[in-house]
Amino acid sequence: MSTAEVRLDFGSDEFLADPWPIYKELRRSDPVHWSEAFRAFLVTRFEDVVELLTDRQVVSGFPMRSSRRLFGPTLLDADGPRHRELRKLFTPLFVGGSVKRLRSEILVPAVDQVLDSIEAEMGSAPDVDIEFMERVAVGVPYAMVTRLFGVPPEDAAWLRPRVLPLAGAIEFPATALDPALAAKAELIAYLKEKLARRREGDRMPFLDLAFPPGEPLDESLLGTATLFLLAGTETSVATIGKIMYAVLAHNVELSALADPAYRDQVVRETLRWEPPSHTILRYASRDLTLHGVDVPRRSTLLLSLGSASRDERTFEDPDVWRPGRPDQRLLAFSSGPHTCLGIQLALAEFDTLFERLSQRFGGVRLSGSLDGVRPGFWRLRERGHIFRRPDHLHVRLLRRPADAVASGSRADA
Ligand code: HEM
Repeated sequence: MSTAEVRLDFGSDEFLADPWPIYKELRRSDPVHWSEAFRAFLVTRFEDVVELLTDRQVVSGFPMRSSRRLFGPTLLDADGPRHRELRKLFTPLFVGGSVKRLRSEILVPAVDQVLDSIEAEMGSAPDVDIEFMERVAVGVPYAMVTRLFGVPPEDAAWLRPRVLPLAGAIEFPATALDPALAAKAELIAYLKEKLARRREGDRMPFLDLAFPPGEPLDESLLGTATLFLLAGTETSVATIGKIMYAVLAHNVELSALADPAYRDQVVRETLRWEPPSHTILRYASRDLTLHGVDVPRRSTLLLSLGSASRDERTFEDPDVWRPGRPDQRLLAFSSGPHTCLGIQLALAEFDTLFERLSQRFGGVRLSGSLDGVRPGFWRLRERGHIFRRPDHLHVRLLRRPADAVASGSRADA
């Protein structure tokens, strides 16, 4: 593929099915690629992406960006002191000690809620067939986020159809803004109602932090709360689906994931191999020159976490999924001041899920072929690549052999 042949259309079948050769050619021949369609520069090499993410002259705030129009001002599009102030407000919930507590308080119950229902369906049968995406990849993050917010877990079914339009509106290409604004208004009304009914002793980790009990409601943070509903769910849906896809595609036995070190390597390598968010937005607040390309002040930059994570200058055999590779530099959660706030919680979520899956089931087998997954592999609902994930994954979960159960209960004791 030559430069002339690189047609960057994030919505095309070709790109959705297999963006990797396109990225590769761009990294080689046109690392700062002007996209007429997006009127933006796409940056594809690892070192360039990292440098721009940490360059204070490259900013996140821009009034016309779709996340700003959708959520209003949030930490996602703030810079400098205002951004630091917002990060400071939310950080206490997302660091070491808190995440440790959240693991036992919300992650384990969320995972068990989903796995209990699967085990109940299996009954005394030797195995059970499930559609993994809907049942587990969607089920766990929504069971987690409802507990993080302190709302009833059964509300997940109502929440998701309202979170998905938010995801669509910040996709490339984006879906319509109006349905997303309507969904956000419904979510805000829902949150206000839950806050109005809050009673002393209710456990609402996120809402209590953003809207401390007994203080007047800070309406300016309601948009941010809806951003957290999206940030805490659809990226994890995508990641859980991709971890299972990688495990199946590489014939990894579920029992191997009982080893914490290997499990961690599998999670991190999948996040490198297939980061859920391929592209993030920045703006040049001064004139830049990158690889001889003039990037004028106020230009839009599309920083490709997807391409950077497969840069052959940084990773050996970047297209190969290789847990435990020596060159582990994780960019899936971005870098610099806007590095994902939920990293530790997200990693704890994947760890808890795959640990408990490996403890509670004897194995996982694909029902059918992964090739069947390919054609619609990376679509959210329509077209887009920000929340890339398998459309569906039909799998069979096997009952644990009795002897393994016995040794598992000894280990637990
Ligand atoms: C696999 C799971 C996740 C991935 C891959 C992911 C990815 C990202 C990325 C790439 C950004 C940076 C956006 C930018 O630089 O413009 C980000 C920011 C953010 N993430 Fe995550 N995220 C995940 C899970 C979570 C979770 C579980 C939460 C919270 C419950 C969360 C909350 C946030 C917030 C609040 C920001 C904005 C931070 C800021 O702008 O300062 N994320 N995430």
